[in-house]
Amino acid sequence: MNVLVVGSGAREHTIAWKLRPSPRLTDLFVAPGNAGTGQIAANLDIKAADVEGIAAAAKKHRIDLVVVGPEDPLSRGLVDRLTADGIAAFGPTKAAARIESSKAFAKELMGRCGMPTAASATFDNRTDARNYVQANPGPIVVKADGLAAGKGVFVCDTTEEALAAVDAMMGAEAAFGESGRTVVIEERLSGREVSAHAFSDGTTVAPMPFACDYKRARDGDEGPNTGGMGSYSPPSWLDEALELYINEQVTEAAIAAMRDEGSPYAGVLFPGLMLTDAGARVLEFNCRLGDPEAQVLLPRLQSDLLDICWAAANGTLSECDIRWSTEAAVGVVVASGGYPDDYQTGYEIAGLGTLDEDVHVFHAGTVAGDDGAVLTSGGRVLTVVAMAPTLTAARAKAYSNVQRIHFTNVYYRRDIAAPAQDARVD
Ligand SMILES: Nc1ncnc2c1ncn2[C@@H]1O[C@H](COP(=O)(O)OP(=O)(O)O)[C@@H](O)[C@H]1O
Ligand SMILES: [Mg+2]
Repeated sequence: MNVLVVGSGAREHTIAWKLRPSPRLTDLFVAPGNAGTGQIAANLDIKAADVEGIAAAAKKHRIDLVVVGPEDPLSRGLVDRLTADGIAAFGPTKAAARIESSKAFAKELMGRCGMPTAASATFDNRTDARNYVQANPGPIVVKADGLAAGKGVFVCDTTEEALAAVDAMMGAEAAFGESGRTVVIEERLSGREVSAHAFSDGTTVAPMPFACDYKRARDGDEGPNTGGMGSYSPPSWLDEALELYINEQVTEAAIAAMRDEGSPYAGVLFPGLMLTDAGARVLEFNCRLGDPEAQVLLPRLQSDLLDICWAAANGTLSECDIRWSTEAAVGVVVASGGYPDDYQTGYEIAGLGTLDEDVHVFHAGTVAGDDGAVLTSGGRVLTVVAMAPTLTAARAKAYSNVQRIHFTNVYYRRDIAAPAQDARVD
């Protein structure tokens, strides 16, 4: 089988790495990929969002299965386009991807299912949105309805901040363009966050282990939001009853609701939750694997990922036997100093050849230089992932390897999977 992975981050390198050993694989392609994917697959110089370009490449290279990593091409209808061409594609259709690409749609769905989530209201009119903020004083959250690359959510302490967020999105500035023309305003919750993931073919739901990520740039969850600075799996502080509740009442319920409304959901569904004192609350749904969650989840997968993706794309997931390692995995994102604001690229990465053999390096912002050199080319440069029987051991192994990687202005958080003040890890 010829397989094409769409995307260029560490998530897609992890997906490609996990597909590679499948006995069913013939040729593996990644579009556009990075230096890491270039070592295990053929990179194609086509942007992930270029639906027509990807569809043309899939035909040209006789691709049997396309595995889509990021949300953007999914929300642009890449899976619909490929399916129309008779090419199997792993990921939700454009209509099903609305569960992520419209927070208003997701909230409606949650409401219909009676799912536990923050109280909210949706507005497409600035005056009404402002009035709602003023009528609900105190901490509140303002969210752009559409995709905003993780930047469209404002967790506000005061009414003034919330009004400023509404104005930025819905006023002349239109800070997020179309994505911010509609806003969801919701009750501000507090608690630990956890990422649930599951494979689905539209009917069968196969939950993955749980994972946690770190969004803020600096230690102690300080600094600006990023694409994610690290992750670990499993969170030992989550009890089995709660996991079962989330898998049944959130993930399976959402898949059933999507089927009922005529948009069957296939691919990976990833609900993001907050565990408040009053119980679990759904913050959002994502229509693909998390990045950096994928980097700690897929190394724990003991089954053939190609089998699973093929089955999910073809409605036969119930025939798959999906097994997971009981080992813990810790992923530390190594970034360019200054990220997510200004940073420089083009630096040579040293030390990659000195890492322990059983430690994984998943590339993100990297390009191949001359003579086998690897150069930085983005904010998040790579994720180092270690596995061990305990989280503590996995963490120690991850960091001992991270320390061997050098480039100018290298930056990483020191507290991924650490027993922190906020007790995110036991
Ligand atoms: N109702 C809420 N109360 C408190 N914090 C929230 C709430 N909704 C979102 N957040 C915070 O904002 C982050 C981003 O929100 P989310 O809905 O996941 O949007 P996105 O991932 O699309 O940016 C969450 O991970 C969480 O930290
Ligand atoms: Mg989120």
